[in-house]
Amino acid sequence: MTAEIIDGKAFAAGLRAQVGEEVAALKARHGLKPGLAVVLVGEDPASQVYVRNKARQTVEVGMASFEHRLDVATPQAELLALVERLNRDPEVHGILVQLPLPDQIDTAKVLDAIDPAKDVDGFHVINAGLLATGQKAMVPCTPLGCYMLLKERIGDLSGLEAVVVGRSNIVGKPMAQLLLQANCTVTVAHSRTRDLPGVCRRADILVAAVGRPEMVRGDWVKPGATVIDVGINRIPAPERGEGKHRLVGDVAFEEAREVAGAITPVPGGVGPMTIACLLANTVTAACRAHG
Ligand code: GUN
Repeated sequence: MTAEIIDGKAFAAGLRAQVGEEVAALKARHGLKPGLAVVLVGEDPASQVYVRNKARQTVEVGMASFEHRLDVATPQAELLALVERLNRDPEVHGILVQLPLPDQIDTAKVLDAIDPAKDVDGFHVINAGLLATGQKAMVPCTPLGCYMLLKERIGDLSGLEAVVVGRSNIVGKPMAQLLLQANCTVTVAHSRTRDLPGVCRRADILVAAVGRPEMVRGDWVKPGATVIDVGINRIPAPERGEGKHRLVGDVAFEEAREVAGAITPVPGGVGPMTIACLLANTVTAACRAHG
């Protein structure tokens, strides 16, 4: 059996179109233009690419985009002052501080300075707590995107065995919370898990979010399982020429697709969903702010 390839790129395009319609309706009915502020400290190349894509897509769906680029040596107090200003700005409904931040800055302190109502990344402890207790939260964009793809492919997730590999605050933990709320039996596996391949083989839903290229092998996948690959890893690709790279996920795609029922590709799977969900979260924040 060869797995169905889950087309995240197409799904994300549909979601962006829907967000665009909601933005148009908010403008027409309430004169409200949702606005997203993105803060980038330093010049990390990957972060610069993300921030550029976010800004472009924000404008494409009709929202206001505010970009703040700060020097890599920016003191923490200055960043906190900017966050405070954005918290008070009525034109800003969503605030995203791009991670990673430079070493002089205490990331937790900055994330927790963001008004939870504007925390479109869902990284504030208030939002993490609301999600963990099943209340109305801002949900982190990558796990939200994974969840939407799973719902689209499977429908009712109730009673399914889900294994999440990776326990980060950004992906693994919120992903586990979403699956638990959907009545899955959830295992969070990580680098210290004993017999990781055996644990993965139990999964009807396998989510890989570890940031290790092609770590999850084909024989870790239960036949017919739905595999969601969150990893985006750049590895050398000498076959493409000197100094060339290619993107691979955390799952050995060619092996896994022979076993799985459905699988997300890298690129074109989870990646495009993250920004689409960020835009959706910003519209949600604008609607809530407007009452
Ligand atoms: N860096 C990589 N991914 C993300 C993300 O989703 N949000 C933020 N703020 N920073 C990131």
